[in-house]
Order: sequence, then structure tokens, then C-alpha cells
Amino acid sequence: MKGWKHLLGRYSWLLEIWSPRTCAVADLDASAPSDVTSPARAASSSGEPVAALGAVHTAAILGQQRRARAALADALGPSLPVQDRTQLLGRDTEIDCLFSAIFDLREHALIYGGRGAGKTSLARGFGDYADERGAIVIYFSCDDSHASFAEIFTPYLAFIPANCFSNMSRGNVGGAIASLGNDFGARGLAAFLANIDEQRVILIIDEFDRVTDGAVRNEIATFAKLLSDFRSSVHLLFVGIARDAHDLIHGHASLRRHLVAVGLRPFDRASANALLDEGERRTGLRYDADARAMLIGLAAGSPYHLRLFAFTAGAAAIAAARDAITPGLLMEALPVALENWAFLNPTAAALFRGKAEEGPAQRRRLEAIATTALVDGTLTVEALGRRLGGGPVAEAEAAAALERLADALVPNDDEQGFRFEDALAPQFLLLSCCFAEQSISVSGRNAA
Ligand SMILES: Nc1ncnc2c1ncn2[C@@H]1O[C@H](COP(=O)(O)OP(=O)(O)O)[C@@H](O)[C@H]1O
Ligand SMILES: [Mg+2]
Repeated sequence: MKGWKHLLGRYSWLLEIWSPRTCAVADLDASAPSDVTSPARAASSSGEPVAALGAVHTAAILGQQRRARAALADALGPSLPVQDRTQLLGRDTEIDCLFSAIFDLREHALIYGGRGAGKTSLARGFGDYADERGAIVIYFSCDDSHASFAEIFTPYLAFIPANCFSNMSRGNVGGAIASLGNDFGARGLAAFLANIDEQRVILIIDEFDRVTDGAVRNEIATFAKLLSDFRSSVHLLFVGIARDAHDLIHGHASLRRHLVAVGLRPFDRASANALLDEGERRTGLRYDADARAMLIGLAAGSPYHLRLFAFTAGAAAIAAARDAITPGLLMEALPVALENWAFLNPTAAALFRGKAEEGPAQRRRLEAIATTALVDGTLTVEALGRRLGGGPVAEAEAAAALERLADALVPNDDEQGFRFEDALAPQFLLLSCCFAEQSISVSGRNAA
């Protein structure tokens, strides 16, 4: 492998571009210390090389490895949103905004951001805090993009405790719900919920962007507006993408006064380090300073990618009975993460690899494309041109570079510029450039 020093924190300057860091790191839950001994320590404490151990020792080490892997998945597994506020890192500002919107201003809110940015995690963490403050918090996700208004809201009704309706008996509440029927609309539901007096109820509607039917979206906008008009203590917390705010407001212009949109900022360096600290605490592994700088740089503000890369490297360390995660180990381990992504995105992955291998000038353009997508959230010739130096020559270079990557891009809904078809792609493009520079080949099950 070539020298990797120049790769340290390569893209971490992206964190500064997005926004200044204002969040404090949430306290880590110190109440659940782990006694997991790292597999490497288990092997070395026996004083014998792994290969020389007997069957009993080998079984013990395999057991240790299994436990270490489970602890690693628990601490850094990338697929599960955080379950409660103790695991939620670096979102103090967003939590404050949500509290102010819902508890102080009595408005509705929308959490928006890209895939893997931590929207569901923030919603769950906020829900946990709100629950602590006495609110009833009900979470559902819009899995069926063709669901009607009534189908979306029916599941919530079963979870609103009858004692929230101070002027209705339990039986009356059940009767009122039944009399709404199977196809109720915004007015019927808002009128029913107006019977909730004091109790703060928060309905979290995750994956709201999957609701594509314009009529259903308009009905939901009307519902939000009616709740506000009735000065209801029921609040909606939408979780989706930025365009959802426009759609809701389009459905009801006056909703503009009753909806607070909270965009997710990139996961900052302190939060990333806190996450890795937690991984270390639970597994006995150690992410050394250089490996951390590299991981944080490559993840470029995405908690999903940070977890994925840190998890992949941790799993490789456990398999190799090693304690320390170093840049060298990262370069050995991370091709697996890229291969797994490539399996699901073969066209983009092959394109990234092919272009990245064309040489340093091409890599500079690819990195500029990834950066522009991450920082600006959209790819336009003008924005990319500015990043490539500005002026007509750079714009022509930008147009050609976007053209070459066209198979991995789709036009934005507003027809202004492009975005990656897979929102998780920019970090894999950075990784592809990194590997090409290091002449590390990614075999790929399907990535050819
Ligand atoms: N604030 C956070 N602190 C710690 N881990 C986080 C945080 N936000 C997200 N994650 C982790 O990042 C990954 C993606 O988060 P998720 O909430 O599912 O994103 P989204 O809903 O935006 O797709 C998950 O593994 C989650 O545990
Ligand atoms: Mg989510």
C-alpha cells in the first residue's frame, strides 16, 4: 500500500463548510459498561500464538469473537436507528428546535435530510425526550405509498389513551373512533381529536416522502391546518425530505405559519468521535487517531457511513484477532463496504471505479462532484464549476464531468440540476477515489 498519511481527514473539511459546529456532545450512557475482552487480548493473554492453541482455546476465542461481533453490531451497526435519547449524539440544536416548535409555539414540525442522515434517529430521540416531559408520542412509518388518509392515521388511533379525552368515557372514545368509519378525512379526524384537552399528543409520521399521492398529501396538509385552527394539543411531526415542506405548504399556504422545518446538519467531528468512543467502550477495540481521522473524513458528515465504515473495520479487526484499528487495516477492510454497496448499485459502482482509475485529474473532478452533492444537496453545472475553480472553462469541465457520470445521476424534481440516484453514493465515490489512488482493487461480487 502507498503512504496513506495524505488521506487523513481528507474530506473532513466538508464538516466545516456545511455549518459551524454549535452542538455539544450528548453525554454517553456510562451506566452500561462492557466487560467484553477483545479477541486479540484473549489470544495474547494466553501467551500463545493463535495457531498453536488447542481446540478448547480456539472454541473460547471463537466465542469471544462472536460476543465481540455482537457488541460491535450493537454499538456501531449501521442499519438500526438509535432507539432512545441516550444513544442520540450531537443533535442538541435540532432537539431544541423541535421542543420550541411543538411545546412552546404549539406548531407542527418536519425533520428533513438525506438517507442515512439520522432523521429517524432524531425523531425517536426527540420522542423519548417528549415522553419524559409527559407527552404521548406515537410513531408510525408510511410503508405503503398508496395508503389513503384514513389508512395512514388509523394505526395511531389505537394508541391514544382514552384518558386523554377528559370529557369522554372510554366507551365513548371507542364508539367515536368506530363512527369515524374506514374512510374518514381530515375534518372528521381533526374534530374527533379536538376532544383532547390538555394532554400533549405527538404523532410522528416517518417516511412521509413515500406518500406520493397528491390528494392524500393535500388532505394531510388540511389536517395539520385544522389541528392548528382548533388550537389542538395534537401535533404532527413529519419525517421526510425538504420537498415535503413545500408540498405541505402548497397543500395549504397558511400552514407556512404553523410548520417548523428542521434540517439535519452533518454529524460533526465531536459526535463522530463520541460514537467511536462508545464503540471502543463496548467492544474493547481501539480506533487509533489516524484511523479516526480517516473514518470521519470518508464519512463526510453522515452517521450512517461512519457507522458502516467503523463497523466494517471493527469486524475485520475481530476476525483477524487484532485490537487496534489503524489506517492500514481500514484500507484492507473498507473494500468490503464498497463491495456490498456495489452489489446493490452495480452500474454506479462500476462507473465510479472506472472513472476513478483514469488518473488524478479525473479523481479531482469526481471528488468535486461528491463534495458538491454533499454540501449543496444538488449538482448543477454552476455549483460544480465554482468548485472546480470558476469561470467558463471550469463550467465546461463541470458539464463534461457530470455528463460522464450521467448513469449514476437523476434530474432533480424541479429540473434544476441533478442528484445521485442513490443518495448514499457520494461517500462511496470518495472511497472509490481513495482506493484508486492507493491502487487497491475492489474485486466485487458484482461490481465489475
Ligand atoms: N445522532 C446520532 N447519534 C448516533 N448515531 C446516529 C445518529 N443519527 C443517526 N445515527 C445512526 O446512523 C444510521 C442512520 O440513521 P437513521 O436515523 O436510520 O437515518 P435516516 O432515517 O435519515 O435514514 C443509523 O445506524 C443510526 O443509528
Ligand atoms: Mg429513516
